[in-house]
Amino acid sequence: MPLIAPSLLSANFLRLEDDCRMLNDSAADWFHLDVMDGRFVPNLSFGLPVIEHIRKATKKVCDVHLMILEPERYTEAFAKAGADILTVHLEACTHLHRNIQQIKSLGMKAGVAVNPHTRVELLQDVLEDIDLVCLMSVNPGFGGQAFIPRTLEKIRTLRRMIDEAGLNIHIEIDGGVTLENAPAIVAAGADVLVAGNTVFRAADPTATIQALKNLG
Ligand code: DX5
Ligand code: ZN
Repeated sequence: MPLIAPSLLSANFLRLEDDCRMLNDSAADWFHLDVMDGRFVPNLSFGLPVIEHIRKATKKVCDVHLMILEPERYTEAFAKAGADILTVHLEACTHLHRNIQQIKSLGMKAGVAVNPHTRVELLQDVLEDIDLVCLMSVNPGFGGQAFIPRTLEKIRTLRRMIDEAGLNIHIEIDGGVTLENAPAIVAAGADVLVAGNTVFRAADPTATIQALKNLG
């Protein structure tokens, strides 16, 4: 069964506590928290103060996805805010290896995200240092976009790389995950499904989270 990580980017920010409670009582495994800087991606979302509050509202894993340039400037702040997993973009890091070590030295698990155009082979030299790869299946910046089918081939390649190296690393798929495409994504080798619109625009979000878990 895949881990389900609903993205709170699609939550109701006026009723964030209600949505946190719904996720706490659901089969959701992680809270996926999308941070945007208006520079790495053409959008802004939420940041540290919001994450500090969400941290107090849940005991589940806080999976923080930084879509920001120079993430090393904020690593410590996100550790203090309560991130369990901190994911930085390969495309946003000049010194990715150093950034990964910094994340781990602060007691968090380290993730690396790659955009749709980035080859997963570029992760080979940091693979043994990380806990998670986030494969973007849309261009980051917005919820509610359509899944890019080519991602399935990238999942299979990455799964092969991880298995050949004998490593235990999560493959997280982020963007456009639906009840329809989840089985193929998991069959290709992913084990964490991020879902924003599919969960929060559903008539019954709790049932949808359960369905994603069962389908995958
Ligand atoms: C996109 C974010 C995603 C997004 C997913 O930039 O990283 O986490 O919220 O939303 P959906 O599932 O609606 O594509
Ligand atoms: Zn995300």
